[in-house]
Amino acid sequence: MSGRCYRSKLSVWAALCVLVLCWFYIFPVYRLPSYEEIVDEVSRQGHVWQKNNTGIHVYRKLLKECCDPPRMFAVTKENSPIGKVLWYDGELYHSHTVSNETYPLFVQDNPLRLPLKKCVVVGNGGVLRHSGCGREIDEADFVMRCNLPPLSKKYMEDVGTRTHLVTANPSIIEKRFQSLLWSRRAFVESMRVYGSSYIYMPAFSMRPGTEPSLRAYYALADASSNLTMLFANPEFLRSVGKFWKGRGVHARRLSTGLFLVSLALGVCEEVTAYGFWPFATGPGPDQRPVRHHYYDNILPYKWFHAMPEEFMQLWRLHTSGTLRMHVGQCQPRDGG
Ligand SMILES: *[C@@H]1O[C@H](CO)[C@@H](O)[C@H](O)[C@H]1NC(C)=O
Ligand SMILES: *[C@@H]1O[C@H](CO)[C@@H](O)[C@H](O)[C@H]1NC(C)=O
Ligand SMILES: *[C@@H]1O[C@H](CO)[C@@H](O)[C@H](O)[C@H]1NC(C)=O
Repeated sequence: MSGRCYRSKLSVWAALCVLVLCWFYIFPVYRLPSYEEIVDEVSRQGHVWQKNNTGIHVYRKLLKECCDPPRMFAVTKENSPIGKVLWYDGELYHSHTVSNETYPLFVQDNPLRLPLKKCVVVGNGGVLRHSGCGREIDEADFVMRCNLPPLSKKYMEDVGTRTHLVTANPSIIEKRFQSLLWSRRAFVESMRVYGSSYIYMPAFSMRPGTEPSLRAYYALADASSNLTMLFANPEFLRSVGKFWKGRGVHARRLSTGLFLVSLALGVCEEVTAYGFWPFATGPGPDQRPVRHHYYDNILPYKWFHAMPEEFMQLWRLHTSGTLRMHVGQCQPRDGG
């Protein structure tokens, strides 16, 4: 009796140790500069930035070697023929075998006309509120946005209106559109603000995400929408995750923003990122409070992403001139 009790106590301690080790692995707080230090550094740097063509080439080459973004970022007929097994990158052991039912849903080949020149990746950070960056964003050749953000008139000045690629998490389809099991009209209508862009969905990442994603595909196809559905390739997502893990980002899963930046670094000649600011006070001398998103202040599920770590990676790329992080106000309109 007491022996068994002792053994079960031991295993509880062992489990606790493993948990603590995992904790330090996932949240290596000690390796990061403090929040205030980061905000200070960014504030001191201000708008100084110089493009580094060497850095841009180095990163494009590194990403090409690990992840081949131009060919692999989406599931295509070319990289996923019938019979191909797609292993879900967000599950331990789950796969989808491409069949004659799913194959016709894939685009033939990479649909982007490469190379893209000036790309912007727009994160949804509250730092964009009252930034006046809309015009700058709209001037880019290719605009990528995260997770079906609102683009109504009241945000136009700050985030712009044009979109060429927008990601959509299946969980949004579930929450906002009842998994498309009821009316599809609200979904199709709300997609109109994205014009004729690509909608990029991780359909083969988490098991519950597949059906809503396929329904989103059919909803758009049945409504002859101008949007083109692209399913994120789980192989690409996994290899990009490994790439950043090797550089010190220890999240269970990268944020959509970092996936998009990786894609942009792989296919664009110049990348600027807006709205990436995971801190509660703004850069600049006044350090004003910053909301979580430009459109609301709802906090995400905390344990999932490693936002400050991701920010530090992006900031390093910024200081080396490989991409430009825009975190402050944009230049006001001439004469206006
Ligand atoms: C430009 O990028 C390369 C490669 O990342 C780096 O070694 C170099 O230091 C960068 N130059 C400047 C001025 O930051
Ligand atoms: C798919 O293949 C199966 C058997 O190979 C066949 O019975 C079925 O009709 C096919 N479905 C379509 C949509 O072609
Ligand atoms: C698709 O685009 C065309 C031309 O821009 C527009 O006239 C049409 O209304 C759009 N269709 C939908 C479903 O939004």
